[in-house]
Amino acid sequence: MNRTLVAYFSASGVTAKVAQNLAASIGADLFEIVPETPYTDADLDWNNPHSRSSVEMKDKSSRPAIVGGVESIGRYDTIFVGFPIWWYVAPTIISTFLEQYDLTGKTIIPFATSGSSGMGRTNADLEPSCKGALLKEGRRFSANVGTDELKRWAESIGELN
Ligand SMILES: Cc1cc2nc3c(=O)[nH]c(=O)nc-3n(C[C@H](O)[C@H](O)[C@H](O)COP(=O)(O)O)c2cc1C
Repeated sequence: MNRTLVAYFSASGVTAKVAQNLAASIGADLFEIVPETPYTDADLDWNNPHSRSSVEMKDKSSRPAIVGGVESIGRYDTIFVGFPIWWYVAPTIISTFLEQYDLTGKTIIPFATSGSSGMGRTNADLEPSCKGALLKEGRRFSANVGTDELKRWAESIGELN
């Protein structure tokens, strides 16, 4: 039985590819975090202070709704959580995802893609959504990261089983 999950949100497909490669390289289950209302190009316009993403990211308590959920989360000890960096941190939908579950005793490992920003203060924002879990330091990858690098990274964390 697989005890590692790779869950990801991806608005334009970059993180999706990295998440798929990560899951395949370590033999983990894969779960896509799907927003109830998909993000349109206009929603993603960071130049517009009134766009959906701008409004959500300015309000750290925003919790965009998600379609469905992970079946039997209890079986997973380790959950990799992938997302695009938005305004230097994780999109608030990642908190919606994490807060749906009892994560007690689990290890959460963030990973991200971005234009250039690193993980920044991502974990400081995610920590309150990971009650009872161990939130590990995550890593940002470029869009074209190879499967070997992803595997080496995942193994270096030492939480795989
Ligand atoms: C609303 C918004 C905010 C973003 N903020 C940042 C940022 O702060 N730093 C950065 O390097 N890239 C930023 N980006 C670029 C994305 O992180 C990057 O394109 C990412 O790889 C997209 O992943 P996806 O295709 O999985 O959604 C932002 C993109 C959007 C749409």
